[in-house]
Amino acid sequence: MSTLNKIKAPIKDEMLKFEPYFRNQLKTKIPLLSIITNYLIRRKGKQMRPMLVFLTAKLHGEIAQPTFMAATLIELLHSATLIHDDVVDETYQRRGILSINALWKSKIAVLVGDFFLSKGLLIALDNDQIGTLKIVSNAVKEMSEGELLQIEKSRKLDITEEVYFDIIRKKTATLITACAKAGAHSVEADNNKMELMTKFGENLGIAFQIRDDLFDYENSGLIGKPTGNDIKEKKMTLPLIFALHNTTSSEKRKILSLVRRHNKNDNKIKEIVQFVKDKGGIEYTEKIMLGYGDRAMEILKKYPNSEARESLIELVNYTVSRKK
Ligand code: IPE
Ligand code: IPE
Ligand code: MG
Ligand code: MG
Repeated sequence: MSTLNKIKAPIKDEMLKFEPYFRNQLKTKIPLLSIITNYLIRRKGKQMRPMLVFLTAKLHGEIAQPTFMAATLIELLHSATLIHDDVVDETYQRRGILSINALWKSKIAVLVGDFFLSKGLLIALDNDQIGTLKIVSNAVKEMSEGELLQIEKSRKLDITEEVYFDIIRKKTATLITACAKAGAHSVEADNNKMELMTKFGENLGIAFQIRDDLFDYENSGLIGKPTGNDIKEKKMTLPLIFALHNTTSSEKRKILSLVRRHNKNDNKIKEIVQFVKDKGGIEYTEKIMLGYGDRAMEILKKYPNSEARESLIELVNYTVSRKK
C-alpha cells in the first residue's frame, strides 16, 4: 500500500464521501467557470489538508457533519491560494499539468481564485460554522501577509533566517494549523487539546514548507511543478540563506549579484545551486526540517495510542520524506 493510502486507511470512507461534497461546491451556471472547475477537479492534489482535518477530528472524537464542512472549506481555500500563487509567481505548471494562468491567463485565474475563496467562506456561513470560519479566516489573512512579506524580501534580498521562518509560518503553517484546529474543533475538543493542535500544526506546517523549498534544489521530475523556480523569482529560502551566511563577504556579494541580475539565466542558477550544495545548505536545511518534524511528533506522543494517532505519525514522516 502506498504511504498516502496507509495514512488514509482510518478515514477512507470519509475521504470518499468528501469528494462529492467538494465537487458540489463548485457548481456554477457560468460556462467558462464550469470548464475551469472541471479541469481543476480532474487533477486533485495530495489532499493532505482534508486528510489532516479528518484525522485530527478522529483523534479527538467521532467525525461528524461539521468535520466535512471544515475539510471542504479548507481545501477550497487551499485551491484558491494555489491558483493565485501561480499568478503571483508566474508559474505555468501545477500538479503536473498547465496552471490556470497558463491556460486561461492571469485575469481569469484571479477571478477563479476569488470564486473558490468565496465559496469556501459561504459554506461555513450557510451552515453556521462560525468557529471554523474564525480559525480559517485568520489563516487566510496570514497567508496574504506572508506572500507580501516574501515579495518585499525578494526585492531587497536582505532576508534572514528569522524572517524566512516568519514567512513560511504565515504562508503555509497557518493553514496547516487551521486544519488541525478545525478538525479538533469540529468534534468539540477542549481548549487544552486545541492548544496541542496549534503547536502540532505549526511544527508540521513549517516542516512541510521546508520540504517544499528543498524540492526546488532537486530534479526528480515527480513534483509536478517547475524546479529552480525560487531563485528565478529571487525567492531566497533556507538552503541559500544558510550558504550565504557561511561564506566570505566577497563570495556573498557575487552570489547576491547573480540572484539580482542573472536570476533567469539557467547556467547562473546552476552556479548558485552548486554554491548552496558546496556550503552544506541542503544538509543543514534537512536537519532543521527534521527538528520541526520531531516537535510535531512529540505532541502526538501526548495522546493515547489509536488508529488516528498512528496515521498522524505516518503523516509527519511522510511530510519530511515525501517526493512530491
Ligand atoms: C502546495 O501545497 C503549496 C505549499 C504550501 C507548498 P501541496 O503540496 O499540499 O499542494 P497539492 O494540493 O498537493 O497540489
Ligand atoms: C506556497 O507558496 C503557496 C502558498 C502558501 C500560498 P510557494 O510558491 O512556495 O509554493 P509552490 O512551490 O508554488 O507550490
Ligand atoms: Mg509563492
Ligand atoms: Mg509558487
